[in-house]
Amino acid sequence: MQLNQLKIFHEQAFIAGKWCDAQNQQSTAIINPATMQIIGHVPNMGKAEAEIAIQAAKQAYPEWKAKTAKERSIILKKWNDLLLEHLDELAFILTSEQGKPLSEAQGEIRYAASFVEWFAEEAKRTYGDVIPSPDSDAQIIVTKQPIGIVAAITPWNFPAAMITRKVAPALAAGCPCIVKPAPETPFTALAMLDLAIQAGVPAEIFSVITGDAIQIGDAFFESNDVRKLTFTGSTPVGKLLLEKSAKTMKKVSLELGGNAPFIIFNDANIDAAVEGALAAKFRNAGQTCVCVNRFLVQAGVYDQFIAKFKERIQKFSVGSGLEPIHDIGPLINKNAISKVKAHIQDAVEKGAKLIVGGKGHCLGELFFEPTLIIDVTTEMDVATQETFGPLAAIFKFEDEKQALEMANATEFGLASYCYTNDLGRAWRMSQQLEYGMVGINKGLISNEVSPFGGIKSSGLGREGSKYGIEDYMEIKYTMFGGLK
Ligand code: SIN
Repeated sequence: MQLNQLKIFHEQAFIAGKWCDAQNQQSTAIINPATMQIIGHVPNMGKAEAEIAIQAAKQAYPEWKAKTAKERSIILKKWNDLLLEHLDELAFILTSEQGKPLSEAQGEIRYAASFVEWFAEEAKRTYGDVIPSPDSDAQIIVTKQPIGIVAAITPWNFPAAMITRKVAPALAAGCPCIVKPAPETPFTALAMLDLAIQAGVPAEIFSVITGDAIQIGDAFFESNDVRKLTFTGSTPVGKLLLEKSAKTMKKVSLELGGNAPFIIFNDANIDAAVEGALAAKFRNAGQTCVCVNRFLVQAGVYDQFIAKFKERIQKFSVGSGLEPIHDIGPLINKNAISKVKAHIQDAVEKGAKLIVGGKGHCLGELFFEPTLIIDVTTEMDVATQETFGPLAAIFKFEDEKQALEMANATEFGLASYCYTNDLGRAWRMSQQLEYGMVGINKGLISNEVSPFGGIKSSGLGREGSKYGIEDYMEIKYTMFGGLK
């Protein structure tokens, strides 16, 4: 496959219903992290173009909002079908700009499409309420209305799924959407938009704008017409965006950083725990916000778990995501590599043992060997900071109380995992882990039907599930009086 021969590969942004270049005619080169080669360019747009997209969305909004839920649902179902029909092309574009293995990219496109299918269905279920009135001459009804223009700022680690997890509920609810994709991965966003327009989403209702994040963000934050901001990314940036959104009192959803614990008790099925651990740690080369950051292993199975886990990590094949034999692709950039190295160095200096990997891979500067370190303690940086790379760090604990204390000793509260065959303990852990999501005997917990999101510094709001559309709607209460 050749990128520039694909009809859905675009090197222009799509704003106000048109494919466009930047007004200043400048563009930015996008690289393949596996080869460091330029694969294309996208326009370097700014505030002026973002304002054009907002104005176009404002004009088109009344018509989209007035459609019946069923009409919007039919269009979204068509978009889902087109995403699946173009699965191989989309996965190829995704791997070319992001680096993950093609099989994972295909999985991500299916995952992305599943949100479109799900919210096509949920569009028809945004029920209201009738409330018994305290006045005998009155009736009270509660309805839900679309919130208005949605600005979505999306990350590079899931260039497809993090767009549909936001855009599909927004469109389903009747909102226009303007997406600012991550600077590293714009082509997947533009390709998916092309298919949305082919499916019948009115062109002015959905824009994808590439370019200067600060300028584009400023246009969003200054606009009273943009009523909702949804962001996936780091906690420091999320906090800044929340502050900036206050000026125009936008509703905000934030899906931010994590520091996921993965607890393995003596009574766990160790083989199952190893399988879960591999998926929960090394998916996307460790670059997901639900990736395990801390393995907490009880003393009685510590050596056994490490021996089995080590054997499997050594079998991973590292290489370009476009070559189907590899399990782990490159990291996204040099900063990502530096962070993994720094966490390993800090841990080893403070007494951790390096068991597997530990250095850059001979394939190129963005490849890193899958790494296992053991005897990690709470004084080491990896205990409190998210690595976001292929480093598995193993801590030892003695009893349930200690495991819980260690697991909850973080400002983050996104995903957590626990392996045990004791039903009572499983329930206690599910209730006492201070996280938005808990996987009991499960290492992969992301899907379209469940509410994805965190507490504490991991964010606000939930994505996916029946709750996900609520973030794109306002509740309105009407009292009808004089009814005697
Ligand atoms: C993320 O890393 O932001 C999302 C991961 C997922 O959906 O599983």
